[in-house]
Amino acid sequence: MNWHSRYLQQAAWTRDLRIYLFEQAGLKTARRVLEVGCGTGAILRELSVPALHGLDLEAGSLDECRIHAPASSLTLGDAHSLPYPDQSFDIVYCHFLLLWVKNPLQVLCEMARVGRSVLALAEPDYSQRVDKPSALKPLGEWQTEALRRQGANPSFGSSLAETFLRAGIRLVETGPIQGGAVMESPKDWEKEWDVIESDLAGIVPGDKIQRMKKLDEAAFRNGERVLHVPTFFAWGKSLLD
Ligand SMILES: C[S@@+](CC[C@H](N)C(=O)[O-])C[C@H]1O[C@@H](n2cnc3c(N)ncnc32)[C@H](O)[C@@H]1O
Repeated sequence: MNWHSRYLQQAAWTRDLRIYLFEQAGLKTARRVLEVGCGTGAILRELSVPALHGLDLEAGSLDECRIHAPASSLTLGDAHSLPYPDQSFDIVYCHFLLLWVKNPLQVLCEMARVGRSVLALAEPDYSQRVDKPSALKPLGEWQTEALRRQGANPSFGSSLAETFLRAGIRLVETGPIQGGAVMESPKDWEKEWDVIESDLAGIVPGDKIQRMKKLDEAAFRNGERVLHVPTFFAWGKSLLD
């Protein structure tokens, strides 16, 4: 599984919203910006500010990030305890992170402690996932269970705005991302299936997965396939600012 390629695909889904939110939060004049859970740098690589920082729990991801976003300063660390002084960044953001952490409230409190503007650019709610034709519904249920077993909270997205408020962040804007995951080309479809096969290995018998893959391929070719995972964003101002 090529995770950087997957992260680039997810970054493409959220590009329009991200450009808008960064502009609202003042990216043009920002001097210090931090991505928490920066992974391989799919978002960091796009940004150009005087002091660009990324933090992640995985040393291997940071090694890749160094290649894709060479202008950024990278730190191995845990989002629950950010190793930066209070209010030391103009903007702190995350993208597909909070569903993975043990305590999203604590992570948002930390983001609000170190940053003036806090942005959560994309957090999905797989419990509201739509798969069509209906014969493909088990696929969504299996994947949601796989995420749970990997330690994620698959439905965190719906709690995003409430968690911002509990973290003492003054909400400026929040809502569902329009569009979201799209499978427009056969390449998108193949990437989606790389993830499905990696997620379901050892959880669902191989023959069941392959049967579902055939159904999915036929639906995709006929233009009948719908896959929608409601995904949410929020941005706000730290009350410490
Ligand atoms: C789905 S990836 C997203 C990566 C990147 N934000 C992007 O969108 O391309 C989630 C990332 O969060 C990192 N992560 C998970 N829990 C973390 C924690 N407690 N502290 C820091 N990073 C964490 C993972 O190592 C992984 O790189």
